[in-house]
Amino acid sequence: MRKVALITGASSGIGKDLAYIHAEHGGDLILVARREDRLTDIKKELEDKHSVDVSVIVKDLSRIEAAQEVYDKVKSASIDVDYLINNAGFGGSGKFNLCGSEPIQAASWWPASFLSCLCGRVLCNPTGIHSR
Ligand SMILES: NC(=O)c1ccc[n+]([C@@H]2O[C@H](COP(=O)([O-])OP(=O)(O)OC[C@H]3O[C@@H](n4cnc5c(N)ncnc54)[C@H](OP(=O)(O)O)[C@@H]3O)[C@@H](O)[C@H]2O)c1
Repeated sequence: MRKVALITGASSGIGKDLAYIHAEHGGDLILVARREDRLTDIKKELEDKHSVDVSVIVKDLSRIEAAQEVYDKVKSASIDVDYLINNAGFGGSGKFNLCGSEPIQAASWWPASFLSCLCGRVLCNPTGIHSR
């Protein structure tokens, strides 16, 4: 049975690299990010190269409903997730006095809500204990 990894922020950078590594080891994938064209290209390449199944979920994870929508999609596809790599995010650098507050506000809520929803409902059994 092939292991399934759900990777957020899989359209570039670290998330994309982890997707390639998982596929090289024969694992199936669910890729989540906003840029559909990139996700579709990655899906095609990995499926052709490694004969694995790659699902794509195009989602803006900064939206409060996004976690539930990802969860519903995974559930309705009847995919059991083995690994969650909740990597989506953004970084930046600059002078504190020149930074706006928007990135800080966004960063403060969405990763936590997404993690708790997916880890709690997809990866764990109803007792809250990891089932694998
Ligand atoms: N690289 C570093 O040195 C470093 C250091 C410390 C922490 N990190 C953290 O590690 C993670 C990955 O970093 P990276 O360097 O690989 O960054 P990256 O190349 O910019 O990739 C970020 C990924 O997150 C996705 N993403 C961003 N905002 C999103 C949103 N609102 N909804 C859905 N997906 C979103 C992007 O996809 P779309 O744009 O297609 O949505 C992209 O796939 C980030 O959380 C970053 O803060 C990185």
